[in-house]
Amino acid sequence: MKETDLNNKDTFSPLVPGYPLKIGGVETVNPIWLAPLAGITFASVRKFYRNLGAGLVHTEMVSALGLCHKGRKTKELLYGSDEERPVVLQIFGSNPEDIAKGTEAALKIRNFEALQVNMACPMPKVTKKGSGSKLMEYPEISAEIIKAMKRSGLPTWAKIRIMPPGSRMTTSDYCDLLFDSGADFIFVHGRTPAQRYEGKASREAVEDVARHFPAMIGGSGDCYEPDDLVDYLRRGCAAVLAGRGILKDVFIIPKTLRELGADVPEKYWDPAPDFQSELLLELGRSIYNTEGQSLAMMISRRMLSALFKGFSGAAQLRRRGAMARTWQEMEDLLIRWQEVRDMPEIEITAENFPRGIIGG
Ligand SMILES: Cc1cc2nc3c(=O)[nH]c(=O)nc-3n(C[C@H](O)[C@H](O)[C@H](O)COP(=O)(O)O)c2cc1C
Repeated sequence: MKETDLNNKDTFSPLVPGYPLKIGGVETVNPIWLAPLAGITFASVRKFYRNLGAGLVHTEMVSALGLCHKGRKTKELLYGSDEERPVVLQIFGSNPEDIAKGTEAALKIRNFEALQVNMACPMPKVTKKGSGSKLMEYPEISAEIIKAMKRSGLPTWAKIRIMPPGSRMTTSDYCDLLFDSGADFIFVHGRTPAQRYEGKASREAVEDVARHFPAMIGGSGDCYEPDDLVDYLRRGCAAVLAGRGILKDVFIIPKTLRELGADVPEKYWDPAPDFQSELLLELGRSIYNTEGQSLAMMISRRMLSALFKGFSGAAQLRRRGAMARTWQEMEDLLIRWQEVRDMPEIEITAENFPRGIIGG
């Protein structure tokens, strides 16, 4: 297998001027970090984006109760190689006892650079059990959760959303309480819980909190272009999360680092198609070997539409990728991408694309 030199850290050193720096108690080489994304930021994907320059990566949210019950699937979410460090474990739960037991169970499996509690997830299957953004309605419980996590001795972080208008606390009041309880760093996603993922994330609301607590706040929300990420830093955030943007442009992180003055080789900000196929092969093989075929197919299909853009035959490749049924078929397609793009056009029919097509 051909190794890309992404694995060789000496060739790509995404140091941003002024870094390494300690943020929230964790040393990092830059402020562009991989967001926690449930179902996406598992070990292979974290390592991939860390190698593309992310200064820090997060696990997806892991259930405290699941960890207490030692669920195999839950425990698998913790695994990862040392190359991905710094890595932050994000945990969700509804009360300090579960969270304390869950983090204790997690730390027996593996160490993390910091722990983060999810107080941001707006999805009913999480909030109806009192977790995620539901905690923002219960500041006293939120404070106790931070105190319980802090007992681990690790830097303790939170991820929250902005408070809805008319709440008894402002977002800054809520952060103040969490910091008083021992939080070392807080991410603010500029939407209220009720907004879920609708409307626009308010950068102004995030900036307001960031200016209140210099060097203590990270920003998140609607980062699809390098300029979006840079804007959160300009507005006073100490770090910013690359979330859904990583699936629209795989190179969003190195492109942003370049804007911030890092020395980024051209192939990362103007990647040639053969480098793109090499990278996707490397990622797909890693997922296939570590997390299994169905995740390898899910991610490589999404990545095909994020990577292969803007050259002749790109749509052909994406369509054929959407039709691949096994990782071997996908791998073959990626190895032979130059032949494939000159093959006859595949028609978009329900028979050819029973699951639909992404970005085709
Ligand atoms: C599919 C998906 C899964 C997510 N999973 C998590 C999660 O596990 N924990 C968390 O704190 N946020 C989660 N988020 C929220 C993101 O981390 C991020 O804050 C949000 O998407 C806003 O940033 P963006 O608009 O740049 O994507 C998720 C978002 C999406 C779209």
